Amino acid sequence: MALPMLQLALDNKTLKDALEATRVLAPEVDVIEAGTILCCSEGMQAVRCLKALYPEKIVLADIKAADAGSILASMVYDNGADWMTVICCAPIATVESAMKEARKRTEQDGKPRDVQVELTGSWTWEEAEAWRKAGIRQVVYHRGRDAQAAGQGWGREDLEKIQRLHEMGFELSITGGLVVEDLPLFKSIPVKVFIAGRSIRDAADPVQAAREFKAAIAAHWS
Ligand code: 5RP
Repeated sequence: MALPMLQLALDNKTLKDALEATRVLAPEVDVIEAGTILCCSEGMQAVRCLKALYPEKIVLADIKAADAGSILASMVYDNGADWMTVICCAPIATVESAMKEARKRTEQDGKPRDVQVELTGSWTWEEAEAWRKAGIRQVVYHRGRDAQAAGQGWGREDLEKIQRLHEMGFELSITGGLVVEDLPLFKSIPVKVFIAGRSIRDAADPVQAAREFKAAIAAHWS
């Protein structure tokens, strides 16, 4: 089983704060996420700046697009994003148009672009089938920040859904208030990426926190 990657979620309100985090944390992680909060606050300059500073890293624009798939995909890819997110309640036409843009860019310059469907809120297995038919390979299984704050934990139902998504052929990112102690819960599943934001950025020693995630990944997935 390939080792899951570690993604740093930058849900900072300013690019300055985000860059202070990446200055020490970029070498520790595989994927750098311009978080939804950062993209809303600072726009595409955040994506552009992250890719310019860290060209060797996968940069994800977590814009959770709900419409205008082609325009938004063009925008994030023109600014250097490798991956972007579309929210699960978006019409299939939005998923398809974002995916079409990703494929076009990849064919043009050979650099892989991808679209992830973000599973925050409601979605159905029929929709999941439609995403597969549209060529979607990656989904983000996300316990939303607000759901977590309202007391929602990780449970058996999450693991069953994650397993079923894996069996459908999706590559999975897992996120939502993850702390390192949560990782063993998912150890039977070939997770592609673990995404952590606050538990790394807000730690007393963020570098140590990122290294603990990496060590737990190595311990449970080797
Ligand atoms: C919020 C997000 C976050 O980027 C994701 O949940 C990771 O952040 P944290 O670990 O702080 O919950 O997508 O919409």
